[in-house]
Amino acid sequence: MLQINNLVVQIEDKRILNGLNLTVNKGEVAAIMGPNGSGKSTLSYVIAGREDYEVLDGEILLDGQNLLEMEPDQRAAAGVFLAFQYPLEIPGVATMTFLKASLNAQRKARGEAELSTPDFIKRVNAAAAKLEIQKDMLKRALNVGFSGGEKKRMEILQMALLEPTFCILDETDSGLDIDALRIVSEGVNTLREAGRGFLVITHYQRLLNYIVPDTVHVMASGRIVKSGGKELALELEANGYADYRQSDAA
Ligand SMILES: Nc1ncnc2c1ncn2[C@@H]1O[C@H](COP(=O)(O)OP(=O)(O)O)[C@@H](O)[C@H]1O
Ligand SMILES: [Mg+2]
Repeated sequence: MLQINNLVVQIEDKRILNGLNLTVNKGEVAAIMGPNGSGKSTLSYVIAGREDYEVLDGEILLDGQNLLEMEPDQRAAAGVFLAFQYPLEIPGVATMTFLKASLNAQRKARGEAELSTPDFIKRVNAAAAKLEIQKDMLKRALNVGFSGGEKKRMEILQMALLEPTFCILDETDSGLDIDALRIVSEGVNTLREAGRGFLVITHYQRLLNYIVPDTVHVMASGRIVKSGGKELALELEANGYADYRQSDAA
């Protein structure tokens, strides 16, 4: 469903992605692991369509559509969702208002009717309960004063509501204690289904005990340098990334 061919990206004249190739099939959970600074977040931003990045070469296809030719909101309407490594705080916008606006904007872009307020509230409350998000949090400004774990849960709540076809989770495990990690992972696992793909980015193997991936890809210096099954994550945990740093420098 997602196919990336020879992606070359730079920012401020600095080359960050260097001919990256990656395929994620429908129904698959693909994990990307790699050292800090290898370009994992950059990859997630470029898929979602964040500006600032200059794409010098390559293509990103989602079910055959060229994402690089689409605006970020069109990509979202096409089903791309990114849960940020560092979720933004938006003072002055109540979380509930934000959630309703984003859901209805996407429905509109897809030619679907807007949800009525009671229907919307029913859906939010059900999703929030699953993720153990307190109702009063939904009334507060988006992410403002939320703990790291609360922000990450909020990202997963957005994902559950928007029902994207391709979900990217960028270091969702950072800032989570074990209980929150379990709750967030269960939230993700309930969304796993045949038509939906996931790209789970993580520096540590720990998250992959909870969200068990179908494939694992190692990223170093802006490229996928090794791909395998879930056992590859355990191997990385045991050996670290030193091998890849060296082979990359050679
Ligand atoms: N806005 C930016 N300007 C300059 N360099 C950047 C910018 N964003 C990221 N980089 C650099 O790109 C590289 C990859 O960063 P990133 O994608 O965040 O890696 P990762 O998520 O794997 O830790 C790093 O060397 C980082 O310093
Ligand atoms: Mg990152």
